[in-house]
Amino acid sequence: MPLILVIHVLAAVIWVGGMFFAHQILRPAVQALDPAVRLPLWSRTFARFFPWVWSAVILLPATGYFMMGRWFGFAHAPLFVNLMQGIGIVMILIYLHVFFAPYAQLRRALAAQDLPAAGRAISQIRVLVGTNTLLGLLTIAIAVGGSR
Ligand code: HEM
Repeated sequence: MPLILVIHVLAAVIWVGGMFFAHQILRPAVQALDPAVRLPLWSRTFARFFPWVWSAVILLPATGYFMMGRWFGFAHAPLFVNLMQGIGIVMILIYLHVFFAPYAQLRRALAAQDLPAAGRAISQIRVLVGTNTLLGLLTIAIAVGGSR
């Protein structure tokens, strides 16, 4: 397996696996906590996870388009690669929105000790991260299925 593909797949594993853990495991586990504890916990969790996601959203298209150009030629990429890049771009746009809109609101609201506003921001993040988790799993299925 070429190193570039290993980097690409590791970036996908870290991003999609991290979202799956946050949405399916951590979220239900902390749901019963007091908002004054739960919302700052989410903020600290994202502060640690999002630098990894930034690496993934840079590395996935960088390695992906490199492989696409080298291995297939941009005009001749197979359908599964085009589906991967299409869904991948949507996932990256969703992440950028999460980072610059509700996550920024979450941090501002917590700095102002406005828990209701922080709660609204976290609800938006939950829906968007849930969507991206599904899109990520779908992309992996398409990528692995299509390359066989
Ligand atoms: C953003 C633009 C993206 C481009 C241009 C791209 C392109 C590619 C290319 C050219 C390959 C090699 C295909 C082959 O082995 O013949 C590949 C493999 C792969 N990609 Fe992407 N990709 C992108 C995003 C993503 C995303 C967002 C994910 C998952 C969340 C993903 C998951 C994978 C996986 C798991 C493989 C390995 C498939 C296998 O060899 O079995 N890619 N990608």
